[in-house]
Amino acid sequence: MTASPLLSVRDLTVDYPSRSGPVRAVGGVSFEVAPGSVLGVVGESGSGKSSIGYALMGLTDASHAILGGAVTFEGRDLLALSRRDWRQLRGNRIAMVFQDAMATLNPVMPVGDQIGEVFCFHRPDMSRKAIRAASLELLERVGIQDAARRIDAYPHQLSGGMRQRVVIAAAIALKPALLIADEPTTALDVTVQAQILGLMQELSREQGMAMILVSHDLDVVGDVCEDVVVMKDGVVVEAGHVDDVLSRPKHAYTMQLLNARPSFGGGHMQAEAAHG
Ligand SMILES: Nc1ncnc2c1ncn2[C@@H]1O[C@H](COP(=O)(O)OP(=O)(O)O)[C@@H](O)[C@H]1O
Ligand SMILES: [Mg+2]
Repeated sequence: MTASPLLSVRDLTVDYPSRSGPVRAVGGVSFEVAPGSVLGVVGESGSGKSSIGYALMGLTDASHAILGGAVTFEGRDLLALSRRDWRQLRGNRIAMVFQDAMATLNPVMPVGDQIGEVFCFHRPDMSRKAIRAASLELLERVGIQDAARRIDAYPHQLSGGMRQRVVIAAAIALKPALLIADEPTTALDVTVQAQILGLMQELSREQGMAMILVSHDLDVVGDVCEDVVVMKDGVVVEAGHVDDVLSRPKHAYTMQLLNARPSFGGGHMQAEAAHG
């Protein structure tokens, strides 16, 4: 018998209201995430990847989106949670890292305090001193050099990579069981991208934290993920173990994504497939 999944998504739909009627961003998506495992969600821009992430974080209310299907996380029905339950769960058992750290961080608050806010909200019993110590430890853990000094820095005083490390520190502060990372390295240059992905992989292993890595980049997914879901126009066109999907894509769209990789150049996929 296989262990029960941490997250089970069944036939998830996300509809946004518009003047000409609801627009279907996610059209019946199903997948599972085992505890501690890493799932990649890939697809071109507009394929519905972020909408899935927002739905799993209970963040679709502001868009007046209507959700359908069934989502079970740690045995709880997420689509039935109250706002109060969501506030308790979000940032605690499920956390999310977005593409743009600058948009996530408050520009007028020192980065250490922004990590501390997570503790203030979810662990009201912690003293200020304990929160500061925990925030410092997190900054060190995510590889911020000279963390004792940088804890009081404002976001604009840090590089893009360091800012994303701060965002990751805040996201993992309460040791969530699931981290959703929505294009977490897209805004960073290639060397920094690799460092951040390596860090997230390490954290996932160390803490037994499952991840959903949303990316339009198949190379990134191939490096980091065990399983992958390929999305197009709100539906899953292909899913499976990442090695199988990348080396033996079944769907024309997956092949197209593979061929579009800058590192690969056009047309190589067929050549590789021909070689077995
Ligand atoms: N808040 C929103 N209101 C209306 N439409 C939206 C909203 N967010 C996304 N969409 C639409 O839903 C579709 C999927 O978008 P999104 O989930 O952001 O895809 P991706 O992350 O793969 O780029 C797109 O057509 C997009 O325009
Ligand atoms: Mg997106």
